[in-house]
Amino acid sequence: MKLYIDSADVEKIARIQDYYPVTGVTTNPTILAAEGRPYLETLKEIRSIIGMEKEIFVQVLGNWAEEMLEEGKYILDTIPGNVLMKVPVTEEGLKAIRMLSSEGIPVLATTIYTGMQALLAAMAGAKYVAPYVNRINNLPGNGRQVVSEIVALFDRFDMGCEVLAASFKNVQQVYDAVLAGAHAVTVDPDIIEKFVAFPSTKEDVSDFQQKWQAAFGPDHTNL
Ligand code: E4P
Repeated sequence: MKLYIDSADVEKIARIQDYYPVTGVTTNPTILAAEGRPYLETLKEIRSIIGMEKEIFVQVLGNWAEEMLEEGKYILDTIPGNVLMKVPVTEEGLKAIRMLSSEGIPVLATTIYTGMQALLAAMAGAKYVAPYVNRINNLPGNGRQVVSEIVALFDRFDMGCEVLAASFKNVQQVYDAVLAGAHAVTVDPDIIEKFVAFPSTKEDVSDFQQKWQAAFGPDHTNL
């Protein structure tokens, strides 16, 4: 299982990367626009924080496959290190996934709401697919079920494509996606911090410290 940071907030990325076992950072146009500065500057700073090996995902915006291919090449030429392109699964997107993949450019197929979209994206050469769990739930649909169906389809047809589930609004949605078999999840930093912010764990740690200090004093290095 892989955990990605779904954010372009460099301070939050630095903090999460310091504490959590993350594989990389995913962005989308909304996330980059929210930073209020040139997006290439933001992406370069993210690269300097997470290092050259970790993955950064950048979404293309073109309406036509050829435009998406050009955007992908430009981003790859501009941002150093391990960069993957996010391509929405429309008709033009499917074509762009095929074109980018055939040039050796790794693609995450995004804005996925159904198993069929995911299957077609994988057949076109996508390395990852991103079902939008919370947005599916809001249709209303069942995001966990869609993740589970995609995992089953990929196993059934041996697609060699990973499910990177996205669009989460709470910890339970993330956990449900993992239980459904997602190979990876991308999560907002504010939700990642909630994974271990468990009051009972804090109470247990405090209780252990108090008992130790009552018996041995404040110095817990002299074991
Ligand atoms: C992944 O990068 C997706 O773009 C993102 O998780 C979408 O999340 P949202 O539904 O909260 O916008």
